Amino acid sequence: MHNDVLEVLLTEEQIQQKTAELGRLISEDYKDKNPLIICVLKGAVMFMGDLLKKIEVPLEIDFMAVSSYGTSTESSGVVRIVKDLDTEVAGRHVIIVEDIIDSGLTLSYLCDMLHRRNCASLKIVALLDKPHRRKAEINIDYKGFEIPDAFIVGYGLDYAEKYRNVPYIFIPKPEVYSKA
Ligand code: PRP
Ligand code: MN
Ligand code: MG
Repeated sequence: MHNDVLEVLLTEEQIQQKTAELGRLISEDYKDKNPLIICVLKGAVMFMGDLLKKIEVPLEIDFMAVSSYGTSTESSGVVRIVKDLDTEVAGRHVIIVEDIIDSGLTLSYLCDMLHRRNCASLKIVALLDKPHRRKAEINIDYKGFEIPDAFIVGYGLDYAEKYRNVPYIFIPKPEVYSKA
């Protein structure tokens, strides 16, 4: 897997440091609110795990699985709910955890859905913001890094389901995805 790296964009240390910062901010904002933290599977799984360890207030967690990319390197714009929440959202202070926001279509769909279910408040934490190809306007309340318009993988982000377990974020060599 490490042979597929063209360039490391964010090291494990950079990611962990930023995650700790975001966790501190969220801890300050959510004292006594018992937030419901929603992980958007599968990409956000690594970030969710590390971020939770840095939030020092009582909270609950839940998971949603949606998919828009399939095996392509670009968003199809079609959001499919693969797994819905188990938790009642009405009246809850919800925080959505995403690995990356690209077109914004996935989150814009999810936010609409959570508002329709009458959450008390809704905020977004995203490790990565790729603003160049935004199609839906998204306000990122807690943002990790703004990144260039390059295809990246690792730390939860996949190409055809691969590389999610790599602890850093990197640009793969073009031959990795050009032969697909
Ligand atoms: C990726 C990523 C975000 C979404 C961002 O998920 O994890 O959830 O795309 O793209 P957008 O802003 O253009 O909607 P993907 O659909 O690949 O599913 P995955 O998390 O299971 O890999
Ligand atoms: Mn995702
Ligand atoms: Mg994906």
